[in-house]
Amino acid sequence: MTTSVKPFAQNPGRDISKDRPAPFPIAQYYYDQRLRIAEDAAVLRNLIAAVDWAGDLGPAQWAQWYSVALGFAPDLILELGRGYGNSTAVFAQAARRLDRGRWTERTKIVSLCRTGDWASIVAPRIARIVDKAWFANVDARRTDILSADYGEIIADHERVLVLWDAHGFEIAELVLGDILPRLVDRRHLVLVHDISDNRHASVPRSYGGQPLWKGSKWQERVGAWDSRINIGWMNSRQDQVIAVADFSARNGLEIGSADHEYAEFFAAHPAYADEMRQLLGEEFFSLIGQWAFLSLNGKEGPFHFPAVSGGRAATNRCDIVTDELPRLPATIVTDAVPWAYASKFEWRPAAQPPPNVQAWIRCRLRVDGGVIGVSLLSPDEQAFVESQVVSSAAKPVNVLLLVPDLMQRGSLVIHTWDTPTSARVRIDELALVW
Ligand SMILES: C[S@@+](CC[C@H](N)C(=O)[O-])C[C@H]1O[C@@H](n2cnc3c(N)ncnc32)[C@H](O)[C@@H]1O
Repeated sequence: MTTSVKPFAQNPGRDISKDRPAPFPIAQYYYDQRLRIAEDAAVLRNLIAAVDWAGDLGPAQWAQWYSVALGFAPDLILELGRGYGNSTAVFAQAARRLDRGRWTERTKIVSLCRTGDWASIVAPRIARIVDKAWFANVDARRTDILSADYGEIIADHERVLVLWDAHGFEIAELVLGDILPRLVDRRHLVLVHDISDNRHASVPRSYGGQPLWKGSKWQERVGAWDSRINIGWMNSRQDQVIAVADFSARNGLEIGSADHEYAEFFAAHPAYADEMRQLLGEEFFSLIGQWAFLSLNGKEGPFHFPAVSGGRAATNRCDIVTDELPRLPATIVTDAVPWAYASKFEWRPAAQPPPNVQAWIRCRLRVDGGVIGVSLLSPDEQAFVESQVVSSAAKPVNVLLLVPDLMQRGSLVIHTWDTPTSARVRIDELALVW
């Protein structure tokens, strides 16, 4: 193999000679925001303590993402994967800071995750240390990231920062095939967490006696947590590193490395590094971030995006018929009891899809109040075969449930999720899609 032969040498693709430097000076942002980080150090420290989940994001990473959000000044931050909400809190604090600077525009944060720890544990702790307005920019939804409507979320926002911090190939397909194409003509920057740079982080070349990394599902199954994969400079144990490398090769697009940006910038300006170290200490200043970034800004297409699959890609539909809900829209009220069933009904499709196609129930609904579930029972009613969480929102959302077998249909259930809060659920549409 010779090193002069480039990937896709027979198929030149887009004209990369017209590429302009990325309009996102990641390391410059860090340096430029040093005074604000220093000024807000106590607030950041309190927020870090309130989240209390440093395993997902260390203090220096907090400062790095704070600097990116303040430097880029997005009008929308789309957070994919909230967990305990380190990133939610750092972005909300940045949004508060940006608001104070501008007064007019707001930085909206739409945070998507299926977990409820933010609302039940972390937000109440944060509420004790910030004013009410701090939460005004945060729309923390409980949902499956794969079900959300990104047309509605991105709407007419013009500067969009995406945090990609939920893992797996399905989410990778969604980010690269649905979200990114919507961002091409807007200012946008995607931060990809959990990718280290083997040029800078002290990552060994050796396998260290570990078996070959064979994907995150394999990793979870066998518990081989120290197995990692290296693709070029990217070192990770998350599936999306493969999707990102593939996207980069197909599109002649370099994937940015925070670690590399910091190493180059601060090596060129050692006095800046000294100043940052003095001002912020090792707590908030580190050259290691372990995150990658990508953007199509400054690049000319045509770009190649994967098609999306699953229920989102369905092009056929028919109504679902139920005796319990003869007319839609219909409103169901859930009890303030965790997991209580509010409505359980049998259903059938109004038309017969072709045999052996994969089909999904698509339920368009709006929730007002507590968190609810839309679930499909197994035919013997012993378990949910599919279950989706939905939280209160101003607009209706689509819920997609894969139907394992159209001939043996379990009942559909609308129920309370894990919190004792009642909700009004308005169902606008019940359809089978394939
Ligand atoms: C690594 S954690 C996020 C950490 C967070 N960004 C932080 O800074 O603290 C990833 C989260 O994504 C959630 N997640 C993964 N796949 C999801 C999906 N399809 N829909 C909704 N949430 C998902 C997981 O439940 C988990 O809470």
